[in-house]
Amino acid sequence: MFFIETLRGMTAAMKKTSVTDIRSLKGMRRIVALTAYDCTMAKLVASGGADILLVGDSLAQCVKGEETTLSVTLEETIYHTRNVVKGAGTALVVADLPFMSYQVSTEQGLSNAGRVMKETGCQAVKMEGGSPERCELISRCVESGIPVMGHIGLTPQSVNAFGGYVVQGRSDDEGKKIFDQALNIERAGAFSIVLECIPYQLAKNITLRVSSPTIGIGAGPYCDGQILVINDLLGMSFWEKKPRFVKVYDDIASKIIGAVSSFRDDVVNGEYPEIKHSYKGVDGENGQQD
Ligand code: KIV
Repeated sequence: MFFIETLRGMTAAMKKTSVTDIRSLKGMRRIVALTAYDCTMAKLVASGGADILLVGDSLAQCVKGEETTLSVTLEETIYHTRNVVKGAGTALVVADLPFMSYQVSTEQGLSNAGRVMKETGCQAVKMEGGSPERCELISRCVESGIPVMGHIGLTPQSVNAFGGYVVQGRSDDEGKKIFDQALNIERAGAFSIVLECIPYQLAKNITLRVSSPTIGIGAGPYCDGQILVINDLLGMSFWEKKPRFVKVYDDIASKIIGAVSSFRDDVVNGEYPEIKHSYKGVDGENGQQD
């Protein structure tokens, strides 16, 4: 009996997180989401207990060294998402649809969302915006069996329209617009909604009103879950000025630089590799004489 219970516990622990699991966390406990762009980081982040791994288009800044997310292509999204899926364990993997892969038309968005699902093995896609056209796309995806994470507030693919990375929804009018977008995205069937860089009171009102879990980034403490870019959390981002909402949990950049410079010193000084790091010939010394 004990054995069966243990096995059940293990099986439950090994079950892949689904979008319905994420929905049912609302009001039960906060949802933990982080970005990942490769298999190694996916393994580490999933082992740390993240519920959701987002293959964010922030890969533009974190992997490609770009200033904005706009250059990411569908092929890059597919490549990185495939790699993350391999390391994700039980965490839910969401692929971020890149700029201009879904803005042209509902048909274009549906077909690209389908391609990402088919070619990567992820469980859901994310798309930015809350316009009626976007909500139509969300609902077509959901009808077709493609779970969607919405994303409103500061939507980085619209950085040029916003005139920079600026907090959204500060005025009553703007706040009302974002609130209505959240209601429409919920109605369209999104399983969760990212709220980025909006006042915490607005995020709280949305969270209380919608049944889809809200995942905040720069949206205060009252969301149903939180997401951060993994490089930011680990102290591996090279900002001129740290955004207010980021909490840096470690200084991995210094640790990597330290390890690399120790390797460099050892190589330069002839201290690495030692014989213990080397292979012996099968038949004894196997040495060549000059
Ligand atoms: O691309 C990204 O990393 C994101 C999140 C930070 C929400 O969209």
